[in-house]
Amino acid sequence: MTAIAVDNLVKEFGDKRAVDGVGFTTGESELLVLVGPSGCGKTTTLRMLAGLEPVSSGTIRFGDREVTDVRPRDRSIAMVFQDYAILPHLTVFENIAYGLRSRRTPRAVVKDKVPEAARTFRIDHLLDRKPRQLSGGERQRVALSRSMVRDADLYLYDEPLSNLDAQLRYSAREDILTLHRRKKRPTIYVTHDQSEAMALGDRIAVMNAGRIQQIGTGEELYERPVNRFVAFFIGTPSINLFTMELKNVDGDMVASGCGLDLRLPESIAHRIRAYAGRKIELGVRPEHLHVPRMAPFDVTEDNTIHGVVTVIEPSATGSTVYLSTPEEAGAEPQDFTATFKVRMPASYLDQEVPLGIDLEKVHLFDAETGDSLLHGPQGKG
Ligand SMILES: Nc1ncnc2c1ncn2[C@@H]1O[C@H](COP(=O)(O)OP(=O)(O)OP(=O)(O)O)[C@@H](O)[C@H]1O
Ligand SMILES: [Mg+2]
Repeated sequence: MTAIAVDNLVKEFGDKRAVDGVGFTTGESELLVLVGPSGCGKTTTLRMLAGLEPVSSGTIRFGDREVTDVRPRDRSIAMVFQDYAILPHLTVFENIAYGLRSRRTPRAVVKDKVPEAARTFRIDHLLDRKPRQLSGGERQRVALSRSMVRDADLYLYDEPLSNLDAQLRYSAREDILTLHRRKKRPTIYVTHDQSEAMALGDRIAVMNAGRIQQIGTGEELYERPVNRFVAFFIGTPSINLFTMELKNVDGDMVASGCGLDLRLPESIAHRIRAYAGRKIELGVRPEHLHVPRMAPFDVTEDNTIHGVVTVIEPSATGSTVYLSTPEEAGAEPQDFTATFKVRMPASYLDQEVPLGIDLEKVHLFDAETGDSLLHGPQGKG
């Protein structure tokens, strides 16, 4: 059953459209993550859902009830704000209890629930303190605890973990997931961190410039991005993009440019013959570049890229390698990134190496519009 249905939501501040036709639905107990760069309209969207910001147009429904113009206090929402909005003159206990008290919850229940929530977020030793006696991370956990004690129809989180150090962020993520599984309520979680989105979301909505670009599971967004923006935003390090031209060479589709002539496999070629002669951007994820002797496919001149190694970054499980295509007549050198599951020895620095591109896994985008030639919103792929 649909829990939250948002249709064509628009918010204008003067002549600026902060939110430009956002629409989505969530399942009864779904955790939907809204992810996108700073200023793309995430907070504004959440504030409209909470009723804190009047909509310019569009509708919001909770179940079969339209709430577009319903007052915030009549919407049954628990929200954790980006600036966590805790009250400086109240103790931690009273801050957590605030939402319960304003709904006339019996004292005995408050006395039970507040310490329980505080324990979940490991601030139960701080209940008598005032917010100014807390660190930023502790204040954030007060805000999380306050949302947890409430039984709401919809839980909204606006970057609640941004002030926590990496270790705490991981454990707070787990807490939020545990809480979510216990409450089984629709939850919308905003972040600009794609790895956090991947870790938390049942589905992820990628937003840019006031619009949702694509909604899907992390795997869908990674494997079948509908445009260049989504492809670039999802995955670390980001996908490499090469501006090229598509050519039909005796029936084979060849991507040509940046000093490369790549013969695309038939699995891709048969879908893009109509684009012969067009400018495209070829997207290659760093993990789909392979050292020839370790590649899971035959490396030939039809799928090889040469690069001069500029930086080698060791990681716990391998290395991230930064390269630049060699200087050649007619092609500007282009930087690209590769990740390997093995350590690349430092002796490769400044050397030119051949790498095999797993062409079955590349993405192709229209150079002008950025739309994928392979995966479209209408189920093209
Ligand atoms: N009250 C306001 N008046 C005018 N413009 C606003 C107002 N609130 C937000 N905006 C603008 O709307 C756009 C979207 O803002 P919003 O806060 O929703 O972004 P965001 O995606 O949450 O960004 P961040 O990740 O930095 O928090 C921004 O360009 C912002 O400057
Ligand atoms: Mg924001």
